[in-house]
Amino acid sequence: MSSSFDPSKYPELKNLLCSIDKIPDVSDIRPETVTEKVIECNSNCPDPRLKTLLDNLTIHLHDFIRENNVTTEEWMATVHYLTDVGKKCTGSRQEFVLLSDIFGIAALVNSINNPSVNGSTVATLLGPFYTGEFHDIEEGGTIAPAEGPGEPLLVTGRILNTSGEPIPNAAIETWEADAEGLYDVQYSTYSEPDHRGRFRSNDKGEYSFRCIVPIAYAIPDDGPVGDLLIKLGRHPYRPAHLHMKIEAPPVYETLVTALYPRGDLFSKSDAVFGVKTPLIVDFELIESDEEAKAKGFKKGPFRRLDYDFTLATKEESAQAKEKLRKSMAKKA
Ligand SMILES: [Fe+2]
Repeated sequence: MSSSFDPSKYPELKNLLCSIDKIPDVSDIRPETVTEKVIECNSNCPDPRLKTLLDNLTIHLHDFIRENNVTTEEWMATVHYLTDVGKKCTGSRQEFVLLSDIFGIAALVNSINNPSVNGSTVATLLGPFYTGEFHDIEEGGTIAPAEGPGEPLLVTGRILNTSGEPIPNAAIETWEADAEGLYDVQYSTYSEPDHRGRFRSNDKGEYSFRCIVPIAYAIPDDGPVGDLLIKLGRHPYRPAHLHMKIEAPPVYETLVTALYPRGDLFSKSDAVFGVKTPLIVDFELIESDEEAKAKGFKKGPFRRLDYDFTLATKEESAQAKEKLRKSMAKKA
């Protein structure tokens, strides 16, 4: 029987059809041959990095299915689950990011792409609530509404390089959940950035801003990711943290990190694996009204944190990533 397919209707296939003899025969695949056949099919891919990633993904997924003897029902349940994850995504809700977070994938990608080098500050997750929106604030200004709820916190410190020299004019962005444990974009009434600000280090590399003492919160658990956490017997909480992103181009690598108050109930069981010990900090309690007023608060008491951030140069960072890549390749 002759084929009714008319290639002239599909000009984008022209080049591929010219070399159709070179496409492997994929009929009669068996469990032990399907992986090789899929990889052969991908052999015309012009992007070598894409081909490597998809070939290896194919190998690992096929091995997973063979090793676990995955049933048709289990595979369809997976497809339906991922469909539900996609349906839950909106402009302000990224369920796939949450899914990658609870599997430790975001933490793994973050770790291999941001190795600490020569004493630079340890990086951690950007998190699903980074929006890139903020209010510009003056040195010592506040990112939290004046006299709003929450325990007042003053954060001061310096931005340094790995030789201990100050980095002036670094752009410092910070964001945190509010006193209810919610980010601004989680409110249906969201209209402008709240508990988010950007400022710059001064000539001595110093910075200073006010916010509230962060509190623990649950990642959004009213969707497929929350359902999965329950099935896994896991909680959805993140320990309290204050996000920081520090940029000083073109010399320095951008640092994305967060600070975690010591003693948080969830410090050792962060639902998204973001806590790193060097980022755990202590807040000093200052009761003096006079000192509070001098720092811009209406009255005491307030908490204070002094923390220096150290940035690696792009060159230092590139060398550290290459070293890590080689050591992981050796172990693989
Ligand atoms: Fe967060």
